Amino acid sequence: TQPEDFAQRTVIVTAGPTVEAIDPVRYLTNKSSGKMGFALAEAARARGARVILIAGPVTLDTPSGVERVNVQSARDMLDAACRYAIDADIFIGCAAVADYRVATPAEHKLKKTPGSTGLTLELVENPDIIATVAALPARPFMVGFAAETRELERFATDKLARKGLDMIAANDVLAPDLGFGSDHNAVTLYWQDGDSPRHEALPPATKRTLAHGILSRLMANFSAKASF
Ligand code: PMT
Repeated sequence: TQPEDFAQRTVIVTAGPTVEAIDPVRYLTNKSSGKMGFALAEAARARGARVILIAGPVTLDTPSGVERVNVQSARDMLDAACRYAIDADIFIGCAAVADYRVATPAEHKLKKTPGSTGLTLELVENPDIIATVAALPARPFMVGFAAETRELERFATDKLARKGLDMIAANDVLAPDLGFGSDHNAVTLYWQDGDSPRHEALPPATKRTLAHGILSRLMANFSAKASF
């Protein structure tokens, strides 16, 4: 049996990739399958939360009892996140949001230009979803993920501070058989305890098991903050 430690809490989870149109039939995206975010949504629901899962295009079934909002682009995800964040206690940003989108997607399918050997796409920066929600006046407890290929601790703690988060789960996405697309993952959690930086490593496990580990640490930090 699961603890009901998330009863009476509303949790938002973002999951999966975003897709950014190039033209009507082509897009930019990444390798996120949504499995980590869906595992978190399922685990939070099993522990009694109302869960809103804001999902980019993935092929996974919605966990039982979870409310799902499907989105495509980073800007769609931002709209949904801001709409639901008002009523949420906890926000977990597990989505792999595209940092850039095509400045002006073509209205019609792009054609090859005879005689030309290349094509240049102009990209512009997308809004940062988790930083935007963290800056709202009545903001939820904010948990981010950091997908890194090197210097995990430095980049993750930088994102924790820069995006105004309460906690961040860093994963090494070059580790074999973990991270993007896999059924397994490992994370190191970073947070601030007053002025002291703290961390806790959760070893490789199924995303389902890991999700419960992340939620247990999250609830300990959330409760400490809520009772302050
Ligand atoms: O989906 P799976 O196949 O199961 O893989 C899981 C995962 C590897 C995608 C997941 O564990 C993970 O690391 N998710 C975050 C991926 C990511 O985009 O990380 P980042 O370091 O680029 O972003 C840092 C944080 O900012 C993330 O919480 C991200 O959701 C958020 N972000 C990023 C850009 C942006 N424009 N808006 C955001 O909110």
